Amino acid sequence: MIGSARPRARVIAIDGPAASGKGTLAARIADHLGFAHLDTGSLYRAVGLIVLRNGDSATDRPAAITAARSLCPERAPAVLRDSEIRSDRVGQAASTVAAIPEVRAALLGFQREFAADPPGAAAGAVLDGRDVGTVICPDADAKLFVTASVEVRAQRRLKELQARGVNAIDSHVLADMKDRDRRDSERATAPLVKAADAFVLDTSDMTADQAFEAALGFIRSRIGPDAA
Ligand code: C5P
Repeated sequence: MIGSARPRARVIAIDGPAASGKGTLAARIADHLGFAHLDTGSLYRAVGLIVLRNGDSATDRPAAITAARSLCPERAPAVLRDSEIRSDRVGQAASTVAAIPEVRAALLGFQREFAADPPGAAAGAVLDGRDVGTVICPDADAKLFVTASVEVRAQRRLKELQARGVNAIDSHVLADMKDRDRRDSERATAPLVKAADAFVLDTSDMTADQAFEAALGFIRSRIGPDAA
């Protein structure tokens, strides 16, 4: 019907390294704006978990590609809601499978579709990950690059693990974090880099509330105070 087309969905891209606080921030912003939220890392984690559960190694390329192609996130498979995808073992597997171009290609369409046509007829979408502003949605209305020093991020991860009752050692968590940073930043396909037009939010010395207010201020400047 002429004139009944839905207005173009607003897209907020939030990228950053592990434990930078981008996930919590993205969920809060989506909630505040009434936008849909996609944690794109959960897709790579789901692929990692499928591979491990099949008894394969995350470095087994054919196994990872088959897992990614079988995922079908639009059907919201149970693996995406499995609490095990949050474990560090699965996080490491996710960052290994994420370096495989065919894995990334298999997950690209779903992410772009989510941004263009957010579920629940939401007026917009917030996507968080590593390459949202650079590869998935280069035309996003607002792009944020959320970061914090590796030491601060390791401390946050340690607290998170301890809160879940996991016995973790300081130095191991820091080493794992550095390892993941290196893998995510040095891979050839869609490495973690700040988009040229992204607003950098260093949360090292910020509370969650301060990070939220700073992010919202930037988003308002990009999409207008009425929309945000
Ligand atoms: O964000 P999270 O730590 O859950 O992501 C797990 C892993 O998935 C990351 O270390 C990264 O390698 C990969 N990932 C990615 N691209 C995204 C989101 C996550 O490569 N857009």
